[in-house]
Amino acid sequence: MSQLLSTAVIAATGLTCKAFLNSGLCSVTISNLAVLLDALQNQSRRKGQGLITVSNHLSTLDDPITWGILPSRCYMNPRTIRWALGASDIMFTNPVFSAFFRNGQVIETFRGEGIFQPALDAAIDKLNQGHWVHLFGEGKVCQPPRYPQVNGVTHLQRFKWGVGRVVMEANVLPLIIPMWLTGFDKLMPEGRPFPSKYLPKLGVKLGVAFGDPIPPARIVALLDTMPNNRGNQAPPLQVSMIFCWFWGIELTLMCMHGQCGARYERSLVNDEAIVQKREMDHIRSEVTVIIQRAVEDLGRKLSGNRLDRPLA
Ligand SMILES: *[C@@H]1O[C@H](CO)[C@@H](O)[C@H](O)[C@H]1NC(C)=O
Repeated sequence: MSQLLSTAVIAATGLTCKAFLNSGLCSVTISNLAVLLDALQNQSRRKGQGLITVSNHLSTLDDPITWGILPSRCYMNPRTIRWALGASDIMFTNPVFSAFFRNGQVIETFRGEGIFQPALDAAIDKLNQGHWVHLFGEGKVCQPPRYPQVNGVTHLQRFKWGVGRVVMEANVLPLIIPMWLTGFDKLMPEGRPFPSKYLPKLGVKLGVAFGDPIPPARIVALLDTMPNNRGNQAPPLQVSMIFCWFWGIELTLMCMHGQCGARYERSLVNDEAIVQKREMDHIRSEVTVIIQRAVEDLGRKLSGNRLDRPLA
């Protein structure tokens, strides 16, 4: 991919979005943008600590219109514009779209293919290079008339565990900035008929707010409990060899008794792997919850504790 072409696509898109936001066809309230700009400008962070922004997802235009609030100089450098995960079935449906989004730093992501797909590996790589990755935690546009309540507290839809995965598997814990978007659902209400469904509505009040970076302590504490970080790594070679030798005899005996398949599945080694996998799944979901709560808390703060009606 030619960097020049990519910069051209990003700059053209960014400037178009900026022009729209400044056109008077809508209004936009920006809060705390300095938090993001500080993180983008920080050279020592860029040397190895990635940056993640996470937000709610109100419409198909959230990205790119939101980034129209950035100073134009941000468009000129791939490190000061977000990498995004974009749905293959929406954004990569033909060669022209695919080229456009790929050059626009969108990583093709396949819905339903889980959190270990190459798109998430690519996002982790970007973080390891000190780049900025934006995540819509819900993984899709959500425009409920009201957010659901659990025990009297309103919540966004459960964030995808891929959020936890990229945070956990980056070499250095990324800087994570929560964001809260408002009004984009009014700009592009879902469920309108063709062709109006492709046209933004005018006169809408948009809001883009940034929260303080999530304090790392709770996430670090969780990462310390990961099976690989507890110091019980692979046993020393001799022990492994003796174990393999006994295991070989056991397998031979089992095979002689014709129960190879079933017993093999239930062997000690597999049990250990299953336990570790469960622990990792648990930690990943806990990390994801911390991030989801940070986004929801920002939303609640901004809507005067009325996250139940943020869409009004
Ligand atoms: C820049 O990032 C580094 C590494 O994350 C951090 O330690 C430092 O406090 C940051 N500096 C500023 C001015 O934010």
